[in-house]
Amino acid sequence: MRVMLSAVPTRSTPPLKPSLQEQLLAIMDRKHHPAWPRFTEPGLTKEQLAVHFRHEYLTYVRDFPVLLARLLGQSPPSDVRAALAENIFEEQTGKLSLGVSHPELFLEMIDGLQIPRSSIERGPLTPEAVAYRAFLDEVSFSTPWVVGAAVLTIFVEGSVHERAELSGTREVLPVDEAVFAHPMVKHYGCPPEKLRLIRAHRAVESGHRKDAWQMVSTHAQGHENVIVRAVSQALQAWLKYRDGVVRAMDAAPVNVSIVAA
Ligand SMILES: [Fe+2]
Repeated sequence: MRVMLSAVPTRSTPPLKPSLQEQLLAIMDRKHHPAWPRFTEPGLTKEQLAVHFRHEYLTYVRDFPVLLARLLGQSPPSDVRAALAENIFEEQTGKLSLGVSHPELFLEMIDGLQIPRSSIERGPLTPEAVAYRAFLDEVSFSTPWVVGAAVLTIFVEGSVHERAELSGTREVLPVDEAVFAHPMVKHYGCPPEKLRLIRAHRAVESGHRKDAWQMVSTHAQGHENVIVRAVSQALQAWLKYRDGVVRAMDAAPVNVSIVAA
């Protein structure tokens, strides 16, 4: 008797669940906002730049070392403590690179753009920025620490280039060329010597990217779903945050006092 193979019920093999790293990289592939190209071209006013940089500074640049310190305060294992401590030390003092904290280097760029620091250090934030910051605060305080570590060190510190960074295929200009090619230098008059933040990041960045993935992958066991959910939430909150920044930039009044000569 011929057996009709097609009649034999077969159980299809469930697709293999992608690894945690692949799931996180798939989220990082989407860390791109459609309005981002506006920041790489000329045409923005100083007021619009001030709105953008105020949001970046107050939402996460100024307090990034504090957010990381909250993870350290949760008593993670010793390998993680060392990686976090090094990252916090560099962010808050710059003593592994140029000897200036990263928030201060950010403000140095603002000086170079002839935007008053007062318009960056204070001022209104969009509701989306407040919500994104509230989310970052929440994950930095919440247990398990590894979820906050994934959000802060992989998502916030990482970029859409994460996949290429990890595989070692990301092509970047030598640092001097990168500074001169930076839109703030090329189009907006920031003197190259005021863009030392790029140099500091270049000095420590690859170590921090490795540490981020290492600490999360080593200690993720049992928390994978929560980590992926939180990083996915971070992406959604960030995209809304960027929508809000663009809306606020487009509504920015032209204030003669901060238009560079
Ligand atoms: Fe930094």
